[in-house]
Amino acid sequence: MANIILTGFMGTGKTSVGKRLASKTGLAFCDIDSSIVELTGKSIKEIFATEGEAKFREIETSVIRSTLKNDNQVISTGGGAVISDVNRGLFRSTGFIVNLTAQTDVLMERLQYDDERPLLLCENIRETISKMLCDRESYYADADIRIDTTGKKIEDVTEEIICFIENGYTCGGIDCKSGA
Ligand code: S3P
Repeated sequence: MANIILTGFMGTGKTSVGKRLASKTGLAFCDIDSSIVELTGKSIKEIFATEGEAKFREIETSVIRSTLKNDNQVISTGGGAVISDVNRGLFRSTGFIVNLTAQTDVLMERLQYDDERPLLLCENIRETISKMLCDRESYYADADIRIDTTGKKIEDVTEEIICFIENGYTCGGIDCKSGA
């Protein structure tokens, strides 16, 4: 099977859903941010602080490229991976893309006390999240299915993805390309 690639803003549940989806489907699980940490021996926060975002994005693309050489994986990507045309091209050519979303209020709740996400270490976190969501919307929309995780359990989101992959439509109230 091709890869299943999870995209979405920080806090949409990509890693939790990805792990469960991998265990339910028997596919391998790979988290791009964790692979970056493993490769560099530095936390994401440290890479941003010492080498800057541009360098982080370079490493991110190189890890995505090498990860996507393999099949049969569920891959959780970092929230900003979709910004790069190169990354999106790699996702398109090697996988089925699932974009996870959540309402801004929910993201706020999940992210406001987090100090590991360098792009959110700012004064007005709500404004920052809203602006980033807006700037990135067209990139997140480049997906085979989009699932709003607001108010849903990890188990339910996972089932929705499996349902779509098996039947071509989703079991929840979901926006997807088939129009189901
Ligand atoms: C980022 C999201 C983070 C991480 C980095 C940048 C972003 O990943 O890659 O802090 O640009 O949205 P998560 O979405 O897993 O938090």
